[in-house]
Amino acid sequence: MQVLIAYHSDYMHTQAVADAIVAGAKAALADADEVANVVLKQTVDVGLDDMCAADVLIFGSPVHMGSMAWQMKQLIDSGSKLWMAGELEGKIGGVFATYGGYGGAGGGVEQTLIALHANFLEHGMLVCGFPRSLSGYAYAGLHWGLAVRTGNEEGMPEGIDEAALLAARAYGSHVMETALRLK
Ligand SMILES: Cc1cc2nc3c(=O)[nH]c(=O)nc-3n(C[C@H](O)[C@H](O)[C@H](O)COP(=O)(O)O)c2cc1C
Repeated sequence: MQVLIAYHSDYMHTQAVADAIVAGAKAALADADEVANVVLKQTVDVGLDDMCAADVLIFGSPVHMGSMAWQMKQLIDSGSKLWMAGELEGKIGGVFATYGGYGGAGGGVEQTLIALHANFLEHGMLVCGFPRSLSGYAYAGLHWGLAVRTGNEEGMPEGIDEAALLAARAYGSHVMETALRLK
């Protein structure tokens, strides 16, 4: 199985979450004795061939001004060439975002996750949400996917707590277990 985890990160929070997703994914693959190649790349390094080769694609972005970072949107728009040929149809997707939490109610994280869903669904992929039964649901689970808050009450960067990283690992495992079941 080929797995691509693509993310944008300016200040390393989203990267730390992506690393935890990789760890969870690898743990699930090892448990299932599945030989797999898990590739972690920043959006700028992802090519169309990476997307075509992957059986599972997990995309993540920080929230910027209420939606995804433009670097992630650029990757998504470059993937429109694959839509014409239906190259990604039937593949499994996962989505994650980090956010400061401006306004206290999410600052656009749901919108970001939904936009990431929309891209995968437009390609005809199947996208995994974050079920309530997974570890860390209360800290970073949304039915859309993984949402990790990194800001404090003043809207300033605070970091990522261990419970959110646990949720990230659980989400990585969940997406992989889903892909293995469908395989
Ligand atoms: C340009 C910019 C715009 C941002 N806009 C929002 C926003 O609208 N809502 C929000 O909750 N957080 C916002 N944030 C906070 C980031 O989403 C948050 O700090 C994120 O975890 C940063 O991820 P990174 O460290 O991987 O770059 C913004 C940060 C930057 C740099």
